[in-house]
Amino acid sequence: MRALMCEHHGPPEELQFRDVAVPEPGPGEVRFRVRAASVNFPDALMIQNLYQRQPPLPFIPGSEAAGVVDAVGEGVTGLRVGDRVATIPFEGAFAEYAIAPAFRTTVIPDDMEFAVAAGFTMVYATALHGLRQRGRLQPGETMLVLGAAGGVGLAAVEVGKLMGAHVIAAASTDEKLALARAHGADQAVNYSETDLKQAVKALTGDRGVDVIFDPVGGALAEPAFRTMGWDGRYLVVGFAAGTIPAIPLNLPLVKTASIVGVTWGMHSRREPEIHAENMAQLYAWYAEGGLRPEVSKHFPFEESREAIRWMMDRKVQGKIVIEVAA
Ligand SMILES: NC(=O)c1ccc[n+]([C@@H]2O[C@H](COP(=O)([O-])OP(=O)(O)OC[C@H]3O[C@@H](n4cnc5c(N)ncnc54)[C@H](OP(=O)(O)O)[C@@H]3O)[C@@H](O)[C@H]2O)c1
Repeated sequence: MRALMCEHHGPPEELQFRDVAVPEPGPGEVRFRVRAASVNFPDALMIQNLYQRQPPLPFIPGSEAAGVVDAVGEGVTGLRVGDRVATIPFEGAFAEYAIAPAFRTTVIPDDMEFAVAAGFTMVYATALHGLRQRGRLQPGETMLVLGAAGGVGLAAVEVGKLMGAHVIAAASTDEKLALARAHGADQAVNYSETDLKQAVKALTGDRGVDVIFDPVGGALAEPAFRTMGWDGRYLVVGFAAGTIPAIPLNLPLVKTASIVGVTWGMHSRREPEIHAENMAQLYAWYAEGGLRPEVSKHFPFEESREAIRWMMDRKVQGKIVIEVAA
């Protein structure tokens, strides 16, 4: 099969297309014919040896995909050859065939396109797990989303609205903010043109925000934290800005606020029943039209390297997808 290989760590331009053996599923795994794969931030980190969980070299990058099951490993129940699925292998998806754990593989609705399904699970499941189990977001609360037009950010905007929150979107350009508003955000702050803390305080007054969803980190984290209200929850989701922020611990004390980590991958492994309930909720919302996945760009398989570069250049809005097979 054709696969994009990472043979040494480095930029996406150094990845190579190779012909390799089709992999065999082990116990608890399925193999699927990849139809579409989406690009997630960890894909860009892994090829550079910058991610917290690194596969040994050489490896095939690609954390998320959708396709058709063509082999089922020992002990797998509930999935059959021929099922149309979305899944998170965490690596191996930028190839014609890939292996994924069954517990992170879901059968997709008949009317869901592979390109949409390929980018559905990671961002929406992270948003819902973050806001529901970790953030305890309540109807009527105010939430601030940083990087609100990126993959997980835009998903958090939609999920937050469906959970009844008032959503303030924050992003680096007016175009990105227009997208966040089109997906339900009530208010918008451009943090490359205005001071984030002052702008959010002007919107929320003395009350502050109840939940902050932060997949960006870097220099935005502390000013964002300073907009927190009483008993607020700051969700640490990711560090797309490239630096891990250090929050002075007097801030959670004086604000009586919590800093809460969100790790969806570990959650889905350790708490598979809650993950399955969350996925059922997400597919129900999708069927009702409550979730409107944004696929802003499609790349042919042979342009997979360009797709990863597109994400590293901060150009992604919603999701970008690699069409692996017709
Ligand atoms: N904790 C979890 O379980 C979990 C799950 C999935 C993803 N994540 C993490 O969440 C983060 C976002 O992932 P994603 O897939 O949503 O990525 P994405 O689509 O590229 O979105 C990231 C956003 O971060 C902002 N950003 C600020 N500085 C940036 C820079 N130097 N380069 C790129 N983006 C920058 C951009 O928004 P502006 O231009 O508007 O600032 C961009 O839209 C990553 O760190 C990822 O590892 C965590």
